[in-house]
Amino acid sequence: MREVTAIAALRALLATERSAGRRIGLVPTMGSLHAGHLSLVDAARRESDTVVMSLFVNPLQFGPGEDFDRYPRDLERDRVLAAERGVDLLFAPTVDEIYGTGADLRLSGGEVAARWEGAVRPGHFDGVLTVVAKLFNIVGPDVVCFGQKDIQQATLIRRMIREFNFPIHLLLAPIVREADGLAMSSRNVYLSPAERDAALALSRALRAAEARWRAGESDANALRQLVGQVLAAVPGVVADYIAIVEPDALAPVARVTRGTIVALAARVGRTRLIDNVIFGD
Ligand code: PAJ
Repeated sequence: MREVTAIAALRALLATERSAGRRIGLVPTMGSLHAGHLSLVDAARRESDTVVMSLFVNPLQFGPGEDFDRYPRDLERDRVLAAERGVDLLFAPTVDEIYGTGADLRLSGGEVAARWEGAVRPGHFDGVLTVVAKLFNIVGPDVVCFGQKDIQQATLIRRMIREFNFPIHLLLAPIVREADGLAMSSRNVYLSPAERDAALALSRALRAAEARWRAGESDANALRQLVGQVLAAVPGVVADYIAIVEPDALAPVARVTRGTIVALAARVGRTRLIDNVIFGD
């Protein structure tokens, strides 16, 4: 694995790869790697020859009261995990390398970015889209891989690719979970043992909703109520939203079908967690 911090050095290496006819795959991350991130490397590998992982904690996507400063960082460990999993090029730039040319303009996520996560985290998706567009321009990937875990993010990036004509194929990788169902997240390290237990309510609620749908319930309100009840049954878990939506714009639906997404966010103690299920997957 080669590791680079400078955009110019990365571009020079990638030019060689491209002229050898290799397809470039990109896996954008903020580091603090876990099995979920590493599964994206496998997915990218299946459709490309050279896998680039970016590792950059993007200040633009953190709000004023959020965890930019305390976001877990461990480059030494990430470097080992990425190399073991077969990343060819690790791009770990400084904030200055990415934003030194200016950080005044933003891509705007529009209507889709205003709902759900966007309603709670104003400006978050503008920051995500801005850095991802920059990464697309820096790397020029053929294929990019995002996780279903952050379904609204992946949806917005799919729209950005389409609306802005990026010649990039997006792969959506399934959610990797701990053995007990908790969706893997870099933020799980913030949970105390008791909160870690309580956090199982999220995946339990989603499983209950999917089981009820498979048993014949297609009314979104009934399913939302069920999810709310499972969350409310656990002390210390406070639901932020329970979204039952279609996959293109994440707009609410009244009736649930195959492909409908149930996405939720809940606070467990001081930690905010998200999870989702795509029905029929
Ligand atoms: P980060 O939270 O580090 O996540 C990087 C990628 O890993 C995202 O595509 C995310 O959906 C995926 N991922 C996280 N947990 C996962 C899990 N349990 N299973 C499968 N995939 C999982 O998302 C970001 O970084 C940033 O917003 C970024 C896109 C890098 C822009 O800064």
